Amino acid sequence: MTKLLIIDDEPGIRKTLAAILEDEGYQVLTAEDAVIALDILRREPVAALFLDVLLPNMGGIEALERIRGEWPEVEVIVMSGHANVNMAVRAVKLGAFDFLEKPLSLDKVLTSCRNALTVRRLREENRNLKQNAPSKDELIGSSEAIQRIRERIIQAAASDARLLITGENGTGKELAARAVHRHSRRAGRAFVEVNCAAIPDALLESELFGHEKGAFTDAVTCRRGRFELASGGTLFLDEIGDMSLSAQAKVLRVIQEQRIERVGGEKTIETDVRIVAATNKDLEQECDRGRFRRDLYFRLNVIPINLPSLRERKEDIPVLLLYFLKERDAGNIVLAEEAAQFLTAYSWPGNVRELKNLAERILVMYNGDRIGLETVRDLLQEKPGFSEKKSGISFPGEVKNSGPNTIFNLNYTEAKAAFEKQYLEFQLAGHDRSVARTAEAIGIYPSNLHAKLKKYHIRTER
Ligand SMILES: Nc1ncnc2c1ncn2[C@@H]1O[C@H](COP(=O)(O)OP(=O)(O)OP(=O)(O)O)[C@@H](O)[C@H]1O
Ligand SMILES: [Mg+2]
Repeated sequence: MTKLLIIDDEPGIRKTLAAILEDEGYQVLTAEDAVIALDILRREPVAALFLDVLLPNMGGIEALERIRGEWPEVEVIVMSGHANVNMAVRAVKLGAFDFLEKPLSLDKVLTSCRNALTVRRLREENRNLKQNAPSKDELIGSSEAIQRIRERIIQAAASDARLLITGENGTGKELAARAVHRHSRRAGRAFVEVNCAAIPDALLESELFGHEKGAFTDAVTCRRGRFELASGGTLFLDEIGDMSLSAQAKVLRVIQEQRIERVGGEKTIETDVRIVAATNKDLEQECDRGRFRRDLYFRLNVIPINLPSLRERKEDIPVLLLYFLKERDAGNIVLAEEAAQFLTAYSWPGNVRELKNLAERILVMYNGDRIGLETVRDLLQEKPGFSEKKSGISFPGEVKNSGPNTIFNLNYTEAKAAFEKQYLEFQLAGHDRSVARTAEAIGIYPSNLHAKLKKYHIRTER
């Protein structure tokens, strides 16, 4: 239920306004001054609030500034008597959504409230769309296997059923999970990821379900859990096979009851999330070994999607490599036939991620347009430390002075160019691929940076 907060020192106004809004189906909280209101905001996920400008203790304007700073997603509707209209105008300039003149008109209250909530929802949708939108997270590949996966993703997206995505490391499980979300009716809402393997067991419960202030020693403020944050959207439970049995029991209960309780909290909160889980483990086998709850496995595995390894769809290897190269380099790159054969014969234990890393290495170390057997063989066999990395180029580790393919074996001009290219790639990746920000950070003019990026065929957009 949408939560609203009324801040007014007149009990009469609090009471009437609350009654009007409750009649409309909102849950209404009230505070007689701003100090109490800020305390409520720390605890409760308030969507919009009504704020009187003339308040004891802390004035409405100061309160507004604090709220804008700390809870920018909360819409504020300011209320003032006729004498203080100029203050209300100032409040709107400071970011209040609207102002209402007292005595309040029922109609205006409701219209303003509805508008504020609509704007808030649109803004949230917009933000989520921006986060999840880029079509670059489509699964690339022309093999029959990957085509089937793409179809399955679309089918799965049409329902709200839970999904279990399995596959070896780097096969695109996360990408598939995001694609399901993006194609689903939940696309405008949040996609919230939890890496179950990365969160210590002791913290997992509070991470998933949130906690109330004081629930445990470190719980100085109350916090919403990932289930709550994913409300209306998709919750991606990654590496679910690594979740402890006790955490599994709790997740199972939430799935069964469709509601959660924050750690240390009394009340229950309804949840509306779609759960997509992923693992590289064989959960069937984990169940046999008593390491995974079979009942949870059944609950999660409503729609199974198994991502094939790259070995099982070899024709995708050159396709993907060229895709990754062209995604970043605007030049006209071709892959020599022998190079393609060599890559196809390789076993790709790290699957698509390993292939993507090879593409990065080619982009950094190699300046030509035709990628031959030598290049791919050397770069693949060299296996630098960063091939395990999920993203980004680990720059310092790159500069090695041994091995056949380091810049130390090039002539001065080539070495300088290789270094410059690698450096710019690294910096750009570290600044969200923004030319302006990268230029500022490394201390050169944006026009100069543009020219260099063009020279090395480095793409800037994400
Ligand atoms: N079919 C594909 N098309 C384009 N990019 C892909 C494809 N499959 C995977 N990738 C890319 O490969 C990398 C690894 O993919 P992802 O993180 O989704 O794999 P994963 O199965 O979750 O791996 P892990 O088991 O290691 O967590 C990502 O950068 C992803 O964008
Ligand atoms: Mg993953």
